[in-house]
Amino acid sequence: MIFARSAARALSTPSSSRLFSASAAAHTKVAVLGAGGGIGQPLSLLLKNDPLVTSLSLYDIRGAPGVAADVSHVDTASEVKGYAADQLDQALEGVKVVVIPAGVPRKPGMTRDDLFNTNASIVRDLAAAVGRVAPDAHILVISNPVNSTVPIVAATLEKAGAFDPKRLFGITTLDVVRAARFLSGIVEATPNETPVTVVGGHSGATIVPLLSQSPHGKAVKGEKYEKLVHRIQFGGDEVVQAKDGAGSATLSMAYAGAKFTNSLLRGLNGEKGVITPTFVKSPLFADQGIDFFSSNVELGPNGVEKIHPIGELTAEEEKLLAACLPELKKNIEKGKAFVA
Ligand SMILES: NC(=O)c1ccc[n+]([C@@H]2O[C@H](COP(=O)([O-])OP(=O)(O)OC[C@H]3O[C@@H](n4cnc5c(N)ncnc54)[C@H](O)[C@@H]3O)[C@@H](O)[C@H]2O)c1
Repeated sequence: MIFARSAARALSTPSSSRLFSASAAAHTKVAVLGAGGGIGQPLSLLLKNDPLVTSLSLYDIRGAPGVAADVSHVDTASEVKGYAADQLDQALEGVKVVVIPAGVPRKPGMTRDDLFNTNASIVRDLAAAVGRVAPDAHILVISNPVNSTVPIVAATLEKAGAFDPKRLFGITTLDVVRAARFLSGIVEATPNETPVTVVGGHSGATIVPLLSQSPHGKAVKGEKYEKLVHRIQFGGDEVVQAKDGAGSATLSMAYAGAKFTNSLLRGLNGEKGVITPTFVKSPLFADQGIDFFSSNVELGPNGVEKIHPIGELTAEEEKLLAACLPELKKNIEKGKAFVA
């Protein structure tokens, strides 16, 4: 339990840790769809270690019962059950939060959009099952391309009459995690002193770090600034190249996925002031036909409580945003067209 508490603390902001024991009483069943994969396995382990998760439901088209048997031996209080390929509906019964890392990852030279053909139908079919079996669940989409898979989930749920924009999230947390980490290395501070708001979408030029809004970030100028922005936007490529054909980020992504899940659960349990960037149905650029966008979102008992505006931008950030918007619009439209 001491380990569980300290791990949970590491996944949360310092001010929230005192709430864990009180909130853990709420029954919160979390499902991982794609639990047998590179992300799904360590994500399941980290969720087993989160006291806010009382029950864990692990599903994959292969390997989930084995992962569940393994993870279930960890000495934290939550129950773990694994489900085989033909047990998707059972896996979703009674779940409050569904995390989706199912689908294929990138190989060197691929963009996230290259994954569309395979992952679009996987995500659509999983979303349809959630709409049918657990229509009140919160859905956290990790599967790429997030800029398109989130609109796919929204459109699929809409068709089923089960879409609530307050309960659908594209996970861009890894961009936020990378930004804090990379900035900390440049300014010689610890990553929890260098949080960065990252807005837009989750791929290349659609990832827009707002360094000017960070006390440490605004000091980074010139070539250092250009390099830092590029590294935040294309940090995923470093991992894809280093893994040399064996996939993309899995461990850091699992960490980021567990971190976001913990934030959401704290919000659902009534904690105030839980604010983090996430890709949601958003009014911010809807007048330009871009109705999904990542910005700081306050999480609360219903999921999305408040979508924050992006705030003041520097001229450089305006340029980044101008490059983001048309690409993001295309990605969103591609997702919608797939379900239409
Ligand atoms: N949002 C992000 O920041 C981010 C970061 C890294 C990777 N990703 C994405 O996450 C996804 C998974 O990556 P990975 O490295 O874990 O891949 P992986 O191939 O290791 O694992 C994917 C798992 O999904 C399972 N799967 C496939 N179809 C399924 C279905 N219909 N139902 C349930 N499970 C199914 C597979 O059996 C496999 O176990 C990829 O799309 C990747 O691009 C997102």
